Amino acid sequence: MKASVFVGTSVDGYIARSNGALDFLPPDGGEPHGYDEFMASVNALIIGRHTYETVLAFAAWPYGEMPVFVLSTKALRPPPAGAVVERMTGSPEEIVATLTRRGFQHAYVDGGVTIQSFLRAKLIQRLTITRVPVIIGTGIPLFGPTARDVMLKHIETRQYPSGLVKSEYEVLA
Ligand SMILES: NC(=O)c1ccc[n+]([C@@H]2O[C@H](COP(=O)([O-])OP(=O)(O)OC[C@H]3O[C@@H](n4cnc5c(N)ncnc54)[C@H](OP(=O)(O)O)[C@@H]3O)[C@@H](O)[C@H]2O)c1
Repeated sequence: MKASVFVGTSVDGYIARSNGALDFLPPDGGEPHGYDEFMASVNALIIGRHTYETVLAFAAWPYGEMPVFVLSTKALRPPPAGAVVERMTGSPEEIVATLTRRGFQHAYVDGGVTIQSFLRAKLIQRLTITRVPVIIGTGIPLFGPTARDVMLKHIETRQYPSGLVKSEYEVLA
């Protein structure tokens, strides 16, 4: 199973404020920048519990009937009607092996801690990072310490009229 990241950050690399707020990101992604096309290419989501709780507070569940695997060591708050949610624990290797066995081909991995652990395990193949034109100074970082350099191949960078700058990378071995 392939795994990809598609995430929005401040120019200084934060995915959320320290309290989890996403108010610095433009509502609804601001303008079309490939999110719908990316979503159409995946058949499962793997998200951390913190991201799940953020999404639960949205006015509407954004993932339709797409299977969402929420990583957590604790019982989850119940999902809304119609959502397909399953809790999972284990190492990134175990999670990818389980989902591969279950026939999933492409997973969207989301949440800072979750992305970092999958990157460390070399289980992310594509990274798409959209920078929004703001510096917020502190918050929840997309990346953290790494035991070694993670080499990337730049695929493409596109700029959008509202100031979004989207860069796509392949993660090299
Ligand atoms: N800007 C964006 O595009 C974007 C995208 C996604 C998220 N966000 C924001 O980022 C924030 C969340 O990021 P985050 O770094 O705090 O965390 P996160 O990755 O969403 O969640 C971390 C939690 O997931 C669980 N977890 C992770 N790996 C696990 C594993 N292998 N096995 C079992 N449980 C595991 C643990 O929960 P337990 O404590 O329950 O065990 C851990 O505390 C939220 O505010 C969210 O809104 C922003």
